[in-house]
Formats: sequence, C-alpha cells, structure tokens
Amino acid sequence: MAEGKKVLAAVGEAFGVAFDCTDHLIGGCAIDATRAAGREATALPDETLAAARASDAVLLAAVGGPKWDTTEPGEPRPEQGLLAIRKQLGLHINLRPVHIYPALAAASPLRPDLLGGVGMLIVRELTGGLYFGERERRDGVPGAAMDGGPGIYCSDKCEYTEGEIERVVRYAYDVAARHDGGRVTSVDKANVLECSRLWRAIAHRVGAEYPSVASNDMLVDNCAMQLVANPGQFDVLVTENTFGDILSDEASMLTGSLGMLASASIGEGTALFEPSHGSAPDIAGRGIANPLAQILSVGMLLRYGLQMDDAADAVDAAVEAVLDDGWRTVDIADEDTPADHILGTVAMGDEVARRIGR
Ligand code: IPM
Ligand code: MG
Repeated sequence: MAEGKKVLAAVGEAFGVAFDCTDHLIGGCAIDATRAAGREATALPDETLAAARASDAVLLAAVGGPKWDTTEPGEPRPEQGLLAIRKQLGLHINLRPVHIYPALAAASPLRPDLLGGVGMLIVRELTGGLYFGERERRDGVPGAAMDGGPGIYCSDKCEYTEGEIERVVRYAYDVAARHDGGRVTSVDKANVLECSRLWRAIAHRVGAEYPSVASNDMLVDNCAMQLVANPGQFDVLVTENTFGDILSDEASMLTGSLGMLASASIGEGTALFEPSHGSAPDIAGRGIANPLAQILSVGMLLRYGLQMDDAADAVDAAVEAVLDDGWRTVDIADEDTPADHILGTVAMGDEVARRIGR
C-alpha cells in the first residue's frame, strides 16, 4: 500500500492534482483495533465503511494473516471485512486484466510461444454465489441417511438470481463490443449445477443482443485446462464468483506472478481497487513483496474511479518502463536477471514513481 500511495503522490505532482487520501482499517488490523478499543471485534468497522462510501474511490491492500486464521465459529476473520465491503458498496463486478509484459515472458512458467497474443479481461461476479450463501455446520443426525454416515454436517449454499447474472454478463458484452473483434467466453458448470444452467441461458440471451461480439460457453474444468494449453484464445472471460476467484489466480501465472494482477471492483457507487493477491504471510516483513499489482491497481483507480485516463496511462507506462529497464522483484526474476537488478518492495516503488511523467 505504501508503494501504491507513493505512485499516487507522484501522479498528483505530475498532473497537478491534490489527492485527498485518508487511511482506514479493514481486515486483521481492524479486528485488533476494535477489540483493543473494547468494542465488538470486527473486520469492517463502521467508520471505514462510511469513509469508503464518502470517497470517490477506494484503494485496498490485503487483509489476512496467520494471526487471525481461525475456524472457530463466531470468531471474526479478516476476509469478512473484504466480503462485507464488496457487498456494502454494491461492487457486483470485478475486473482482472491479464496483461503480458514482453519483458516478463521468461518469468512465466509457460513456454513463451504459448504467450504470444495473450491478453484477456476476467470479469468476475463478486457479490453472489457461494461466497454469500447461507452456511451451516452442525452435528449430523446420528444414523441419518447421508452418504458417509453421521458426524458433523456442513453446507454452503450457492445462489444466483437472474438479475445478478444478467448485469455482470451484460457488462462483459459491453466491454467486448467496444473492442474490435472482441469475444466473450462465459464459463460455467452447466453440466452439473443449476446456477450454471441459468447462467448459461442468460449468457445466450444477452449475447444475442450483441451480434458483433463472438461468444462461446466453456465448462470451468475445461477452462482451467485451456488457460494453460491455449491462453491466447481468451479475450473477455466472464464467470461467477468462485470460478472467477480460482481462474484468476491461475491466469495470473501467465503474467509471471500473482504479484502482477491488479483488479477493479465496480458497481453501484464508489468503486474499489485492489491487487488480486492476498497478504502473502510467508514473506511478510521481509521487504521483498512485489508492489506492482498494488501500483497497477492505482492505475485502475485513476482510470475507472476518477476518469483520469492520461494519469492511468502514465502509471501503466511507468511500470512497463521499469520492467523494460530490467528491474525485477524476486517473484518475477529469472535465471538471467543480474542479482543487482532484483529489488525490494520500496526500491521497486521508487523506480515506478520516478518514471511517472505526463
Ligand atoms: C480474491 C481473494 C479473496 C476472494 C479472499 C481473500 C476472500 O482471494 O480477491 O481473489 O476469494 O475473493
Ligand atoms: Mg482470490
């Protein structure tokens, strides 16, 4: 987050804009702070939500960590803050652009010849499905006629309404229609799931309104395979919440690292911008995390949140220039990267910030 704010400040200077930024807690630190204040521990304090609502855009970092990793029923978890802010701000649509930087071709685990022509936008439904359905966990009824017999019973309900599906599918088609030769791939599991059958029917109905946009359906298991077998076939990929979560992590590796994938969550009011990755507790505090997804999220904030396209272009160009100049964090370095070109988090942020220009 510090590197993202550094780059935002550089944009402010270059473009003569004074951004009015305030900091608020969400996730693990919010749980700690509310508890320390003797309040009910929560991952999304009211004042954070109110400040988000009152803002033109929200920049978010990551929320979790082993300290708060609990499965105790009733105990707050950092992720609840993230899900709650998405729901409360009505952020129904999550955009995750997968952009290949030529300079990073060698950082991807895929052969470079598979990466030619790769570039896609993952459009993920963000406020429905399994993430927000009813959950239950209880002792099973002894002797109940369930496969596997008695014991603990649990369930997570996956729910979707026609309206929830239609608005995200329509968004995907609108994006594709703005691009020449755009194609929409709608991903589902219609051979098994009822929600997916409705999803597919709506995708077809909406698609019929966009004769200039090519489209196809793909089952999610096949899509997982196609993303590594032939990733160049995708343009706009639209899918439900859980599938989008999983497929976007997979697709990030095309770029070389999950540390390269920014995201924008948009909907009814204030939009929110965050890297697609989480908090990486395994490297926390070592100063080696890749800040580029956070910085690219600042770019998306400028573009989608503040309609400052020129400034957004400047951020994207600065990131590209840093990579072209050979600077890497450890996750995107390869065997040919000289040791003195592997930067820590702060130095990487500095390199991007100093390349921001009009
Ligand atoms: C993401 C993250 C979150 C999600 C987690 C942290 C709850 O993985 O934004 O992709 O599953 O949506
Ligand atoms: Mg995820």
